[in-house]
Amino acid sequence: MPAVLTDQKIIVTGPTGQVALPVTLALAEHNEVIGLARFRDPDARAQLEAAGVTCIETNLAAGDFSSVPSAVDYVLNLAVVKSNRWDIDLAANAESAGLLMQHCAGAKAMLHCSSTGVYQPAGRHELAETDALGDNHRVMMETYSIAKIAAEVVVRTSARLFNLPTTIARLNVPYGDNGGWPAFHLAMIEAGQPVPVHPDRPNRFNPIHEDDIIRMIPAMLEAASVPATIVNWGGIDPVDLEEWCEFLGGIVGKDATFVETDATIGGVTVDTSKMVQLAGPTTVGWQDGLRRMVAARA
Ligand SMILES: NC(=O)c1ccc[n+]([C@@H]2O[C@H](COP(=O)([O-])OP(=O)(O)OC[C@H]3O[C@@H](n4cnc5c(N)ncnc54)[C@H](OP(=O)(O)O)[C@@H]3O)[C@@H](O)[C@H]2O)c1
Repeated sequence: MPAVLTDQKIIVTGPTGQVALPVTLALAEHNEVIGLARFRDPDARAQLEAAGVTCIETNLAAGDFSSVPSAVDYVLNLAVVKSNRWDIDLAANAESAGLLMQHCAGAKAMLHCSSTGVYQPAGRHELAETDALGDNHRVMMETYSIAKIAAEVVVRTSARLFNLPTTIARLNVPYGDNGGWPAFHLAMIEAGQPVPVHPDRPNRFNPIHEDDIIRMIPAMLEAASVPATIVNWGGIDPVDLEEWCEFLGGIVGKDATFVETDATIGGVTVDTSKMVQLAGPTTVGWQDGLRRMVAARA
């Protein structure tokens, strides 16, 4: 299993995103990286270009990859489109993934980033990859879960159609110096606002630090197969949202307060044993990771 990727030609979709920006910058240190997005954030684009990333303006909702090189080693699909419009979100998340796989059918592997938001809510049951899927995020983002499930199915089919080894990795709660859901909680706590929590408490998740995401990319690509490998991608230590908010409050000297509402997603906690088998355990403990996040965002 390669510890790092070097001298590879890699396409990353959504390289300006919360998850993809640190991943893309890390990959660009030793590889030729091409980023695809609309690049609405000029600062993020400048940061990528300064690191040597070739930025090609692409609207995934259109699915036109004619200006994108097809002879690449790896494709990392880290973009997500959350317009809350069904026609756009199905085209941009699902159809585009298949069209990009067709375009890069000769690649060594494809990593498609999915979400544990594809699972049917199951409280504190540790969801395995074979567990029931459902419309998990509907209360917050109407199209999200169904578009992510649709994308998985298109990616699974395309892996077989194009014989392109593929991993579908279902991220839980990614966070780090570049932000994430806990960073939103931090901002609410600092502003003295109550954090919304689902009444089915405690709300347990598997937060995963961006350093672990970066470190696991080579193994995730190595695990690619036809039919596609499907794996949960989260921290090995589950933690309750309430607990991490109280911890964040402790760092900044404010009490975290909560408001119960069923208009927020409930806990989604996962079985990480398949991930550990394929890519090893996560190494950044959640308290360390959150302390670093607070310092980076101060
Ligand atoms: N963040 C989370 O808490 C979380 C949790 C679980 C799973 N995930 C998964 O992790 C992956 C990354 O998510 P993220 O939160 O990091 O995303 P994000 O911060 O919302 O970034 C989305 C990226 O996609 C690009 N994009 C959006 N619409 C586009 C379009 N029409 N055409 C081309 N590019 C477009 C954006 O750039 P432009 O807008 O400039 O085009 C940006 O680079 C996704 O697969 C997501 O489902 C995230």
